[in-house]
Amino acid sequence: MDQPGTIVILARPGSEWRSPCEVLSERYAYRVVLASSPAEALTAMSSIQVDLAIAEDGGDDTSGLDFLTQLRVSHPDIVRVYVTPDSHRVSMQALARAAIYQFLLTPLDAVQLGLVVERALETRELARRHRILSREFKISGASLIFGERKGSPFRPESQRFEKLVYVSEKMAEMCDLARQAATTELPILIQGETGTGKELLARAVHYNSTRRTSPLLVQNCGGMSDELLQSELFGHKRGAFTGAISDRLGLFRAADGGTVFLDEISEVSPSFQVSLLRFLQEGEVKPLGADKVLHCNVRVIAASNRPLHDLVARGEFRQDLYFRLKGFEFEVPALRERPDDIAPLAEFFAAKHADALSRKILGISASVIDKLSNGDFPGNVRELENEIRRMVALAKDGEYLTTRNMSPSLLNAAPRPKGDGAGIFQPEGVTLKDQVESLEKQIVRRALARHHWNQSRAADELGLSRVGLANKIKRYNLNHN
Ligand SMILES: Nc1ncnc2c1ncn2[C@@H]1O[C@H](COP(=O)(O)OP(=O)(O)OP(=O)(O)O)[C@@H](O)[C@H]1O
Ligand SMILES: [Mg+2]
Repeated sequence: MDQPGTIVILARPGSEWRSPCEVLSERYAYRVVLASSPAEALTAMSSIQVDLAIAEDGGDDTSGLDFLTQLRVSHPDIVRVYVTPDSHRVSMQALARAAIYQFLLTPLDAVQLGLVVERALETRELARRHRILSREFKISGASLIFGERKGSPFRPESQRFEKLVYVSEKMAEMCDLARQAATTELPILIQGETGTGKELLARAVHYNSTRRTSPLLVQNCGGMSDELLQSELFGHKRGAFTGAISDRLGLFRAADGGTVFLDEISEVSPSFQVSLLRFLQEGEVKPLGADKVLHCNVRVIAASNRPLHDLVARGEFRQDLYFRLKGFEFEVPALRERPDDIAPLAEFFAAKHADALSRKILGISASVIDKLSNGDFPGNVRELENEIRRMVALAKDGEYLTTRNMSPSLLNAAPRPKGDGAGIFQPEGVTLKDQVESLEKQIVRRALARHHWNQSRAADELGLSRVGLANKIKRYNLNHN
């Protein structure tokens, strides 16, 4: 983990948070995101892993306490701290409803706030560890959530880059580089099939950059007329075209100091490509119908499902713009290219949707994980999430997710060849006996690889006893490396 924790502060407009923010971010190295409205705070929470929320009361229209009460339901894991100018205005009942950790009075003492936050996060971490340990004791090895793994009774912790969950080498490498890229000012191009997590990566980059307290604004460039897209991004003057009844600021200027995420960038017209290139080169914005050029400072992150390189080769996308956009270039791998991620993602989504639907799911059966690992997932992570959401909805309280609730297309997916990956068995030797034995050896080796050398499961699949399988392993001198 890079930071000891992330804190979102819902601040009342005009109130003084500079010194508390400095203490939290400089002395304690917390990442602090300041929001001026509940909507802004919720947007940040949908993009990044937030540990603690501080909400301030006192304005006429925003109630920090209402916001914290809402968070208790929508984000129960986030610790809640309430800041108010007057303790007499607050009823004990309202405080209990929001289940706040602590309340503090304004004017705030920055040092006191730092200590409260530190203690709150320590308590949260202890509670988390306690929860995990008691679950580990309660749930037997049958569940894959705490299923068997070589050397350890538990699945290794999945890694996180904000909301991205992964264990695969491919994702780990990409996220490590993205963390570094985030701290630079260079534009970023993210490519990959639909549903692989491109937008999640873009958000993670923004919230790991120095621009995180400024806005991240998103524009989908697909299916929009050129004029509309130009005016959305660069703004327009009143009367610039029919229907332009007032001035429009445009996304680039609205995001000044922050980041603009341009999705489906492959879809933009040649004339828009020229305007965008000018913006990337000079930071220049010329609203439609305006005669003056304006400047603003925005980092652009662009995404595309279609490989821009091919479009450039076909003359459909400007090469100079392509080079400008890819200050850093990321290709998010398709889920089928990183099957190691399927199990941890399935577990993550099962827990997430069980929570959302208030369902008590014990875990995911091993055969479901096996079947999912064979899935092709043309819709990638989004498709996997939809499948798990559906399975959770069909499951009853206190059950495991089993193949009974799986959709037929995934249930009947053909097994994916693993290990040597050749897919076809090649007999070796000359005599019938040698050839049959060589095939048997390959079949056993692949079954073991498929089950991560879990011998009971491999034996089950092959219709052998454990002793029978152990004999074959010895006979063919197979070993796990
Ligand atoms: N590694 C991941 N961990 C957790 N959730 C993920 C991950 N990757 C994708 N998701 C989830 O899958 C869904 C699709 O992700 P996202 O919208 O980022 O994909 P995309 O590549 O932008 O798709 P599209 O090309 O269709 O716009 C989202 O609900 C997202 O939360
Ligand atoms: Mg997207």
